[in-house]
Amino acid sequence: MTGILVSTTVNGDPLDFVCAPDETLMDALRNRLGLTGTKEGCGTGDCGACSVTLNGRLVCSCLVLAAEAEGAEIGTIEGVAEAGVLHPLQQAFIDHAALQCGICTPGILVAAKALLERHPDPTDEEVRYWLAGNLCRCTGYDKIIKAVQSAAATMREERHGV
Ligand code: FES
Ligand code: FES
Repeated sequence: MTGILVSTTVNGDPLDFVCAPDETLMDALRNRLGLTGTKEGCGTGDCGACSVTLNGRLVCSCLVLAAEAEGAEIGTIEGVAEAGVLHPLQQAFIDHAALQCGICTPGILVAAKALLERHPDPTDEEVRYWLAGNLCRCTGYDKIIKAVQSAAATMREERHGV
């Protein structure tokens, strides 16, 4: 099968890779670029474990062809912490015990970050609605919502220099 050369940007770094025409972005991230933080849950767009951003838009990377990353900006869980410092969402998930097995966690963190970038002060209902496509079989969701709200409060305080 002919390979396709893809030139893209992942977490701010320019990267090239060769993929098969029918290869998903999820598989390319994991198997070609070694970015295994993006998880495969279902492979059919139902669980959100593979969530990444593509040109700022939240997508299920199992439903995107790797070739569609040509010229695009991809954001993955590996880019959420900056310079070795955890993102407030990551710290809040630890502080609120909002993860157990952790398979859903990278996708939820990427999705929650996308929410808070658009909406810094969401209601619980808005957080639940936004994360409705991210399934978690362990936590029962309450701790996840609390962690997202805690991180949102921290981020608002940081923004206002409190
Ligand atoms: Fe992509 Fe489940 S692995 S939505
Ligand atoms: Fe196990 Fe969410 S922590 S699926």
